[in-house]
Amino acid sequence: MSGLGEEWGYVLKALTDVSEHYDRVNRWISFGMDVRLRRIAVAGRLTGSRWVLDAGCGTGMFARIALEENPFAEVVMLDPLPAMLRQASGALRGHFVQAVFEYLPFRPECFERVLLGFSLRDARDSEKATRELSTRLEHGGSLIICDISKPNDRLRAMLFRFYWLLVAPVLGFLASGRRGLTVSAIRKTYDKWPSNDVLAVQLGRFFASVEVHPKMMGGAVIMIASRKS
Ligand SMILES: C[S@@+](CC[C@H](N)C(=O)[O-])C[C@H]1O[C@@H](n2cnc3c(N)ncnc32)[C@H](O)[C@@H]1O
Repeated sequence: MSGLGEEWGYVLKALTDVSEHYDRVNRWISFGMDVRLRRIAVAGRLTGSRWVLDAGCGTGMFARIALEENPFAEVVMLDPLPAMLRQASGALRGHFVQAVFEYLPFRPECFERVLLGFSLRDARDSEKATRELSTRLEHGGSLIICDISKPNDRLRAMLFRFYWLLVAPVLGFLASGRRGLTVSAIRKTYDKWPSNDVLAVQLGRFFASVEVHPKMMGGAVIMIASRKS
């Protein structure tokens, strides 16, 4: 597993530029499915969980959905970008931390769930990020990943690449003008993102079990990676 490496700065700049339009652009490029996917990802999976980390929280959309699912949760929202944290803290109650996955400022085993909504794909070093996140989960805790996906079969993977290369930027532009064009950065993250099978094997190095639930005809995926109880 490698992550964005040198491309990380470029992608973070694009995310800063689009931050004020992020939720609207997301709605357009996912045909309104982004909220639904996050809801499916957490449905029934936060019962009884108190400490939840939304890692790479962006504007806080996943945290908001998690709080609807479990209003008693204490959600910690972590992101490196001040522009994103400003939006999340303006909209939600919770705890806000400016940091990166690769160097987490938390003691071991302090969260019951970690949410990764469209964010692990943006890690600079996704192997280091996954290792760090796994050590902050309690025994029996799990990582809940909701993201775009690279299907295992090559033809479909190429079709989705075409979508991220050409179709999504046009939809982004229609949603928010010039700022919406920044979604073209997603294609860079898609190219570096492993296929579902490979990602599951990579997660399996740090977790006892990994569930893979493809969605949207293989264009999105929910993965649940759990630590041993
Ligand atoms: C595509 S946005 C997703 C935001 C949100 N989780 C959602 O569900 O919409 C990815 C977020 O991950 C953050 N991010 C990128 N690299 C990161 C890193 N190394 N550590 C933590 N967060 C990171 C970005 O700043 C951005 O806010």
